[in-house]
Amino acid sequence: MSAQFTRLKGFADLHGHELAVFRRIEAMAHYVFPLYGYEEIRPPVLEATSLFQRGIGEETDVVQKEMFTFADQKGRKMSLRPEATAGVLRAAIDSGLARDSQIARLFTIGPMFRHERPQKGRMRQFHQINAECLGSDSPYADATLIAMLMQFLGSLNLTRLELKINSLGCPVCRPKYLEKLRQFLSGLSGLCDDCQRRAQTNSLRVLDCKICQDKLADAPAFRDNLCADCSEHFRTVLALLGLADISYQIDDHLVRGLDYYRRTTFEVVSDEIGAQTAIAGGGRYDGLVGALGGADVPGVGFACGMERLALLVAAPEAERPDFYIVSLDAPAMEAAFLLACRLRNEGLAGLVNTGLASLKSQMRQVDRSRARYCLILGPDELAFGQIMVKDMDASSQCLISLGRVLEVLKSNK
Ligand code: HAM
Repeated sequence: MSAQFTRLKGFADLHGHELAVFRRIEAMAHYVFPLYGYEEIRPPVLEATSLFQRGIGEETDVVQKEMFTFADQKGRKMSLRPEATAGVLRAAIDSGLARDSQIARLFTIGPMFRHERPQKGRMRQFHQINAECLGSDSPYADATLIAMLMQFLGSLNLTRLELKINSLGCPVCRPKYLEKLRQFLSGLSGLCDDCQRRAQTNSLRVLDCKICQDKLADAPAFRDNLCADCSEHFRTVLALLGLADISYQIDDHLVRGLDYYRRTTFEVVSDEIGAQTAIAGGGRYDGLVGALGGADVPGVGFACGMERLALLVAAPEAERPDFYIVSLDAPAMEAAFLLACRLRNEGLAGLVNTGLASLKSQMRQVDRSRARYCLILGPDELAFGQIMVKDMDASSQCLISLGRVLEVLKSNK
């Protein structure tokens, strides 16, 4: 019979191997990020649409084409979050964490939603590990955040990655640079349709168009047009990365797809995961907290895509149950139920047959479970207060008293 319901295109059921990889990645984030003073925050996945319009930018593809947006029963427009930064900042403003006088270091892990064309490494529901540092405009904050990202990726044994970095200036130097860029673009012919439109509305985005790259080799670079403060900021970030032995590649065409970036922007890419090469992306977004109604607090952050990380990370070895209890009649089943409760209360993991079945079929279940010990309880064993313990690795077995099971199982743990 075919299934009545199927999952939506671009949405996945996470389980088995992939879920084990996700849990490994999450566990590593929970280990590494607190080393840098980050604490977890879990904002909701649904927010007012206007938060993303204001936060990410009306002109971005994410806001124009990719959000899952609908009206609630009262006609209010809301959207499933396409990224976490806007929601984390809204939550930090709401709870008084985004203040001028203090630094807030927050991370969040969870699903994001973008209505894109699904392909390898690109889903409509995908998961991000996201970190935001609010309250410092120092280049040390940028370099420390990037060091945390690289340590996190390194701890997952991901070393064949490239860190690309650029500076997108500030409101002082950006207008002058954009003017120069527009002039350059107006002298070009043969730009793709999207770029012809963007050349007017969002000229920075032309720089990272894959189709037009060959025409952009001589485009003016932002780093040659930064104001003195931005130039010094960028120089210090790069020097600190050098000090920390973090290799990077300056990429003059790295502009990112979200409008809030200022100064430092970066991406970590891999050439091992297909067309969607970005594992992580981020940068500085001074001015965004203010634009969302908070104090004028600077910030810098990144997000890692877990589906893309999962293409590179090996699954941890699956946990084995400590025991599987096979019971041969109804009274033995009851005793097995009680014994299993006792063992689990002592921290051992195990399974018990939940119905009477032949010894052969129960032994098949034992093999399938990969349990370390098989405990066999029949009327004879029960009559003498004993149980058969089969060591599944050593293929040996012995009869012991029921009172000694815990001791024997624990001795080999
Ligand atoms: P982003 O570059 O849009 O940045 O996304 C970050 C990462 O999420 C990407 O590098 C990629 O690994 C993953 N990702 C994005 N879209 C998809 C998708 N459709 N399917 C699978 N993975 C995807 C942001 O979201 C910013 N909020 C990052 C940030 C935080 N900037 C400052 N703070």
